[in-house]
Amino acid sequence: MTLSLPRLQSQAWPGLIRHYWDYLPVSDSTPTITLNEGNTPLVSAPAIAEAIGKSCQVFVKLDGLNPTGSFKDRGMTVAVSKAKEKGAEALICASTGNTSASAAAYAAKGKMRAYVLLPDGYVAKGKMAQALMHGAEAIAIRGNFDEALAIVCEIAAKYPVALVNSVNPYRLCGQKTAAFEIVDALGDAPDWLCIPVGNAGNISAYWMGFSHYRNTGKSSRSPQMFGFEAEGSAAIALNRAIANPSTVATAIRIGNPASWHKATAARDLSGGDIGSVTDAEILAAYRLLAREEGIFCEPASAASVAGLLKYRDRVPTGATIVCVLTGNGLKDPDTAVKHCETDIHSGIPANLSAVAKVMGF
Ligand code: F0G
Repeated sequence: MTLSLPRLQSQAWPGLIRHYWDYLPVSDSTPTITLNEGNTPLVSAPAIAEAIGKSCQVFVKLDGLNPTGSFKDRGMTVAVSKAKEKGAEALICASTGNTSASAAAYAAKGKMRAYVLLPDGYVAKGKMAQALMHGAEAIAIRGNFDEALAIVCEIAAKYPVALVNSVNPYRLCGQKTAAFEIVDALGDAPDWLCIPVGNAGNISAYWMGFSHYRNTGKSSRSPQMFGFEAEGSAAIALNRAIANPSTVATAIRIGNPASWHKATAARDLSGGDIGSVTDAEILAAYRLLAREEGIFCEPASAASVAGLLKYRDRVPTGATIVCVLTGNGLKDPDTAVKHCETDIHSGIPANLSAVAKVMGF
């Protein structure tokens, strides 16, 4: 049987703009630039629940299964569609890697140019490969993300390029759909939402999404919001900007988050917290997810689970908790190989007995 594309597409997920059209700032004059992002799995994580105890239920939101491998696609589809609607021909962003990969892909789809500013030497290989493959102009600066963001904000104010960092409000509008999906999947909001914090846009977007759904009667409550920064970049947790942020989780190596006040408002209004986790705790959660749950996320994403484990004493009995896994593990193969604590058996002769011997038979 031959199926036409419109027929196939009408049955498939159409991307988050079309699915959540009534909840987003779009109209018939908005060209929808989409890679059919969104609709990512919410997966039960019994090994994490067991580590917490207290008969709680833990789910992980696999946002690394978006088209470019991170949650950034949710915000990018809306920001790029709105930029196109306004006639922009070029996009610009600062990035620790994922935003640049996403901006580059959506620019390609929307027939626009992309300029991406990156902290030289601190972007995971997979993310770099994505930006270059999609044809972005990649500019590596001798500085960190915070410095790159300050530069792109000035450039966008001065030159005809649309800024697609999360200071662009359309980014957060798109990213809030992840909260909608969680409520749609569970039937109501969870008790806790655990999420990594870098520039603090995503925690702010989730809070907007949960609040929006609650205000429109789609849920009866909102979750307590628990954000986790890396200890060497924990500006919000420490309540002071960090001039030289550091962490193995390069995606959240940010010392002066742009959405700082939105994030603390989400924390305070929800009765949650923004804490920090060490690199060792991040890497332990990264390995636990891979080895006990079969989920390969990137190190920054594992901060949500590391934080939950750190806060286990505060978890209410019987709670339902969602941890957001923001990016795909394949983005950062170097960190995986370095910290997996598993050896490859190399140089083995190509015969059955040698292989069986390695296997312990
Ligand atoms: N997780 C991953 C995988 C990220 O790439 C980021 C941010 C975050 C979490 C934190 O989200 O900034 O909204 O608090 N990455 C940005 C980038 C900064 O340039 O790709 P946030």
